[in-house]
Formats: sequence, C-alpha cells, structure tokens
Amino acid sequence: MKLESLSLPGFRPSRHVYRGEKGGLAPQRERLPTFVDNHSLYIYLDRGSEIPITPTPNTLKNVMKLFLDTAQVRFIEDRVHTGLISGITTNPTLIKKSGRDPWKVYNDIIELGIDDLSIEVMGDGSSELISNAMNVNQNYGNVATIKLPCTINGLQACKHLTKIGIRVNMTLVFSVSQALLCALAGATYVSPFIGRMDDNSLDGMKLINDISNLFVAKGVETKVLAASVRDAQSVGLAFGLGADICTVPPSVFDDMATHVLTDKGLEQFKADFLA
Ligand code: G3P
Repeated sequence: MKLESLSLPGFRPSRHVYRGEKGGLAPQRERLPTFVDNHSLYIYLDRGSEIPITPTPNTLKNVMKLFLDTAQVRFIEDRVHTGLISGITTNPTLIKKSGRDPWKVYNDIIELGIDDLSIEVMGDGSSELISNAMNVNQNYGNVATIKLPCTINGLQACKHLTKIGIRVNMTLVFSVSQALLCALAGATYVSPFIGRMDDNSLDGMKLINDISNLFVAKGVETKVLAASVRDAQSVGLAFGLGADICTVPPSVFDDMATHVLTDKGLEQFKADFLA
C-alpha cells in the first residue's frame, strides 16, 4: 500500500489500539494520520506505557501477487483499499469496454496509488512498438509496465526496452517456446492466457506449470503472470502450479472472497451473538 493511497476518497488508514487497564484491554480501531507500509502497527497502551509490536513481515509479498485485469476505474477504486491488489493489467479490448480515452483511464488508475500498471502498446514493427513504449514511459515513468505482444517484433522491442530498465509484460503467450523467448528477451512478466487456451481445448494450467518448471530449473527471473483467468478456482490452481501473479477480473476477485458457507455461518453467529 503506497502513501498516495491516503488520498483515496473514503479511505481512512487505521490501526488497532488496545486501551484499558491490564487484564482488561479492549481493541479499538483508531484513525491515524500515517500508515505503515502494508502492515498493521499494533501498540499496546498499558497504564500510560506504549508497547509497540513489530509486525510480522509479509512473507507472501514476493510469492503470490494479485493484479486486477480491468480498465474500469470505479471497479479498481472499490477494491484497491483492501490492500490485496499489487497491480493492474489493461489491454485495448478492456480500454474499449471502458468507453473512455485511454490516457484518462491510465491517469485515473495511477491516481489511485497503483504503482504497476500494464499498458499495451501497438505498432507494426519493433521500432514503432519501442517509440510508443517510450511515449508511455515518458508519461508514467516506472509505474507503467509496457505490454507487448509475443511476436518477433514484440520480442525485439522487449529486449531493447528491458536493456534500458523498462518493465515489460509479454502478452498473448500460448506456448513454452514463446515464454522461453520472452525470458531471453529479459521480460519482467510473461502472460500465458489460460482461459483462451481452455476455450480452444488446450490445457492452460499445464502451460503455467511447464513454464514455471522451466523458469525455476534455469533460475529465470521472469515472473509467470497467469492471465485470461475466468473463475476463482483457477487462481489457487495457477499459483499452486507455479504462477507468480494472477491477474483477475474484478468479479473473480470478489468471488475469491465469497463462500456460501461463510455467509451461512456468519448469519448464524450474528443471530447467536444477539440472542
Ligand atoms: O489479461 C488478459 C485478459 O484480459 C484476457 O482475458 O478473458 O479476454 O481471455 P480474456
């Protein structure tokens, strides 16, 4: 969670504070003017003395990341405050669906405090791809991850951009060979489209696993970003098979948090609590 998130409308950072006499401490939420990076800061107040508790480091930070796959700013705004979303991916189809000017969409997303936004650039040859990527980079700097198609031109552009320190997300990946070339081109992310593979009777999950096994065996730093994810169950499966990141539509993110038995159990607990 970035400090910029403090400017989010309706977002109020808070922490747990325990107040009261020893033996009778009651947790309370307290609004704070500052926010500790991705952690809750716990302070025990006991008879005037403050005992800060060091938060446990988030060991999952570099192991599993969730991105939202959308260009609908409102959908991002509604979910980013959870602190569970590490980036946003867009593509020309998602931008078209938003019905808005792409630059306005990107500006709005960045204003929400997102620091990893995949922006797809188009172009006929590698030079055009590079020049469009440089234009994006000049506007958004390191917040922008340049999304390039996995073609010879895209790979060539990727090689050039990564050499000068620009993050690249290689998209439309459907085979291990393509992923291997993306790794050689220095891509930060490689995006296999698992849903579209399944649509075509190919095994998207197996591809995630094959790419991941290859990258681990060879010590490749390129991250496997599972894209075209259509349902909540696929997310756990993809991570289990080696994906580093899953980018999911907002509805899939919501589905991940929802279970009919949680709702049922909570209803019962609420009723019993009030009885
Ligand atoms: O991230 C790529 C994704 O947007 C494609 O998803 O559902 O159009 O195959 P889908």
